[in-house]
Amino acid sequence: MKTLAHDLRQRLQSRDALVAVVGLGYVGLPLLAAFHRAGFRVLGIDTDPAKPDALRRGLNYLPHLGDDLARPFASGQRFEATTDHARLADADAVVVCVPTPLGPHHEPDLSYVTRTARDIGRHARPGVLVVLESTSYPGTTRHDLLPALLDASPSPRTPGVDLFVAFSPEREDPGRTTHTTRTIPKLVGGLDDPSRDLAVALYSGPVDTVIPVASAEVAEAAKILENVFRAVNIALVNEVKTILEPMGVDVWEVIDAAATKPFGFMPFYPGPGLGGHCIPIDPYYLAWKAREHHTPARFIELAGEINTAMPARVIDRLARALSDRGTPVKDARVLVLGLAYKPDIADVRESPSLELIRLLKDRGARVEYSDPHVPRTHRMRRHDLVMASVPLTPKALADADAVLIATHHSAFDYAAVARHARLVIDTRNAMAPYAREMGDRLVRA
Ligand SMILES: NC(=O)c1ccc[n+]([C@@H]2O[C@H](COP(=O)([O-])OP(=O)(O)OC[C@H]3O[C@@H](n4cnc5c(N)ncnc54)[C@H](O)[C@@H]3O)[C@@H](O)[C@H]2O)c1
Repeated sequence: MKTLAHDLRQRLQSRDALVAVVGLGYVGLPLLAAFHRAGFRVLGIDTDPAKPDALRRGLNYLPHLGDDLARPFASGQRFEATTDHARLADADAVVVCVPTPLGPHHEPDLSYVTRTARDIGRHARPGVLVVLESTSYPGTTRHDLLPALLDASPSPRTPGVDLFVAFSPEREDPGRTTHTTRTIPKLVGGLDDPSRDLAVALYSGPVDTVIPVASAEVAEAAKILENVFRAVNIALVNEVKTILEPMGVDVWEVIDAAATKPFGFMPFYPGPGLGGHCIPIDPYYLAWKAREHHTPARFIELAGEINTAMPARVIDRLARALSDRGTPVKDARVLVLGLAYKPDIADVRESPSLELIRLLKDRGARVEYSDPHVPRTHRMRRHDLVMASVPLTPKALADADAVLIATHHSAFDYAAVARHARLVIDTRNAMAPYAREMGDRLVRA
């Protein structure tokens, strides 16, 4: 007997299927391009009209992905982009890549996910495959996404028969050039076996290695474990840094030394705090869910505490270094290098640089920043900084009482920093090659 699952599998295997991607940000855009490159017809949907607009013209708005990414879209071949969720009626598979932020009390905000689920439920036809990619706690796909889908469907649906639902975590690392959407192995967990098998068939197009796991919950939890693992290990090296500092031992040299062990150690590096969408936010999703089950999440909470304290520690260290030179921080000019949260990308979400600037301004310092990837700042969730990047000239460096390296973009001329800056507070070990030349003008923090 021909079932809806059988039909869909055939369309996925022959690449006849129309794959819709909802949410065309850091996760959704590369995925849309990957499905397109794999030969599928694709439909991109985003509530921000600027994104479909740009893609229709073949323009990519995420510079780290390169200009070529969106160029094939300009021809309109096998490609459409829109703000209209009603177009979901045409889709065979829908991949959901909308934000999963935190609310004001660090609680999960699943409103984007449930709103999207209702849009899909309202419009999609029987037999559609829905895959959630947005990071969330275990149980989200089954207990948040599915009820919203069913609730909004105009006629009753039976999961595993005429509605297929799976979770597949995104493992994108913007800016990393050694791995691509095709080469990063993809976990897939379904709410039932037919859903899992169809999701495996979907991703086998654009991804080399697709790994089915026992359930959507395993896939959801695996993603959060990956992010908690990073948050905890970064907190650990941040703590080790503060332990070693008064002993005069350089944590960077220690990590490099330990990393020569060929097994049982993996290097993580300290920094001025956490940034981006994943590590500062996702662990709290698990901690929140743990509370519902009255289970303590002490490692996660402790890592959060240590990592969130880092910007203040860095500013204390900067203030001490300035005051040793006779300049109170309230009279100082500080130039912050790097506003993005990691090198060579333009993403400033949750960037510790924003917190560093706020803390410096609170203490009365005059602050400027330089970041070739972020020409200006705008209002964000927790910060209301309106500033413009200054060029990194010898004069800008020499005029600053302190230069604070927050992000080690490769575009910065560190030799010029070493030559012209009066005092450098380096949170990224970017100035290691110039340490001898700089002497006590260089402070690692
Ligand atoms: N950025 C990363 O490196 C990364 C890595 C792995 C997982 N994730 C996860 O992926 C998810 C998306 O993250 P992102 O970084 O791509 O976010 P993003 O903010 O870059 O993109 C989200 C997009 O969704 C759009 N959107 C919001 N509501 C919508 C709706 N109802 N319909 C259609 N579009 C809508 C927004 O306009 C935006 O373009 C999050 O859950 C995040 O945790 C992110």
